[in-house]
Amino acid sequence: MLDFNSLCAIVIAILGLILSYCYIQQKWIFSDRKYPDGPWGFPVVGHLPLLGKFPPKQLMAWRKIYGDVYRIRLGSWPAIVVNGYAAVKEATLTAGDAFSGRPDFVSAQVLRSRTGDEDFAFGTFSPAYVKQRKLLAQALRMFTYTRQSFVEEIVDTAAKNLGKTLVAKFSKLAGSLADDVQFAVASIMYQILYGKSKQVDKDKHVRVIANGLEEINRFTGSGSPIDVMPWLRYVMPGKLETLRNLQCESDKIMLTEVEEHYKTFDKDNLRDITDAFLNAAEQLKQDDEGGYELTKMRMIMSLFDLQSAGIDTTQKMTLWLVLYMAAYPAVQGRVQEEIDSVVGQERPPALADKPRLVYTEAVIQEVMRIVTILPVSLPHYAIEDSKICGYHVDKDTVVILNMFSVSHEAKVWDDPDNFRPERFLTESGEINTSLLGHSLPFGLGRRRCVGEQLAKINLFILFSSLMQQCHFTLSGSADLTPIPGLVYTPENCNIMVQNRN
Ligand code: HEM
Repeated sequence: MLDFNSLCAIVIAILGLILSYCYIQQKWIFSDRKYPDGPWGFPVVGHLPLLGKFPPKQLMAWRKIYGDVYRIRLGSWPAIVVNGYAAVKEATLTAGDAFSGRPDFVSAQVLRSRTGDEDFAFGTFSPAYVKQRKLLAQALRMFTYTRQSFVEEIVDTAAKNLGKTLVAKFSKLAGSLADDVQFAVASIMYQILYGKSKQVDKDKHVRVIANGLEEINRFTGSGSPIDVMPWLRYVMPGKLETLRNLQCESDKIMLTEVEEHYKTFDKDNLRDITDAFLNAAEQLKQDDEGGYELTKMRMIMSLFDLQSAGIDTTQKMTLWLVLYMAAYPAVQGRVQEEIDSVVGQERPPALADKPRLVYTEAVIQEVMRIVTILPVSLPHYAIEDSKICGYHVDKDTVVILNMFSVSHEAKVWDDPDNFRPERFLTESGEINTSLLGHSLPFGLGRRRCVGEQLAKINLFILFSSLMQQCHFTLSGSADLTPIPGLVYTPENCNIMVQNRN
């Protein structure tokens, strides 16, 4: 039984919540500023229970009633939802940096609690963010442009091993390819970040990193209640503990790698992204640029972001590509025919083949569009009062970019729900570059994916190599419904893999 004092505390807390809810509502209704309209939600939890199994579709249904920009609440956070190419472009490009922040959700707080420093991907917009983004982009550029063959070799080897493993495991008995694809992608990212000479097959680090990612994906998915309702940590303390432990495990691995690199660092022979960071740290000390220091902990946070963002997205995109090929055998046949005629079976596909593997490229683009694995991107945040589509947006409002509404906008794509790779080809059989600009799988503006170029290399080599080596068939019916999270995952489908060589 509750005593009188506890009962009073609960009643006061509930009254407080109701009053703050009423205050927020009247602020929207009676202000002389023009705020967007929106559906009615619940106190405390806001619109979370109304988002359903597939939030982007519900967000699109509300768009039909309230227009391209409308307001909702995510737990205790006021939010606006931005739909369609024009409005997303306005929010990410025209509005400058007004919406380039990130909300301080529970996940961002957990990441920050390690050092007190903002995380890069989940941290908000600041001069330190701008500096860190420049350093990350420079390090990635070094290995995706200047030393592209370094990445190509790593991905090629991993793709060949993956093809062999899949055939060995699934040529007689259908099964889920998720674990093997995850290990292949994790080992690619591991070598790019920490060194090509790593014996990744034997390295338990890769498995620890890969296994932790699923939990992080679930925790940070849009609409994840514990992320947007901080008080839930007292109801489900275990969830937060799991996230913290995963973080600690990862940090330990990265610390070991960074310390090893310190001992063997040679500025005239940069071996990987960690070396590129060490080099940048040295240069910053010499330049003394505005007091920004690339500390060991900042390096670890950046490496963590690159490996988590890079592994999860690439693994899931590769699984989606294979699943669509198994579900659409005629498309799979046409991709294999193209690869056989342009590349043959004697050598692996290379990036230099890309301009001639146009249908293969159109398939990659169409799967990325139709699935839209980050359908509401990462959450953005208004760092100042601003406007979008004529509506006022207050500072400290969460900004949800409904990227699914961009990749499924009927006036651009005609039949957005149909899988039709040819839509990305012009009449003369080239890639339709103007249409590419309307599909935004990597986002737009200041917060656009920093690993876009690496992701494109990884996906192209992995997919074309798998298509060259293997044939994929579904055992049972195709289920193309995604499982929601931060990155949308395919259902565990049973697939058989035959050798094509
Ligand atoms: C198929 C692969 C990938 C897709 C579809 C993808 C997509 C995205 C999207 C939509 C965002 C959020 C943009 C926004 O907030 O507006 C993002 C952010 C990010 N991505 Fe990727 N990504 C992929 C692969 C990668 C790879 C390989 C890396 C690392 C090497 C990476 C690193 C990051 C980082 C660090 C951010 C945070 C950027 C920031 O906050 O400024 N991504 N990505």
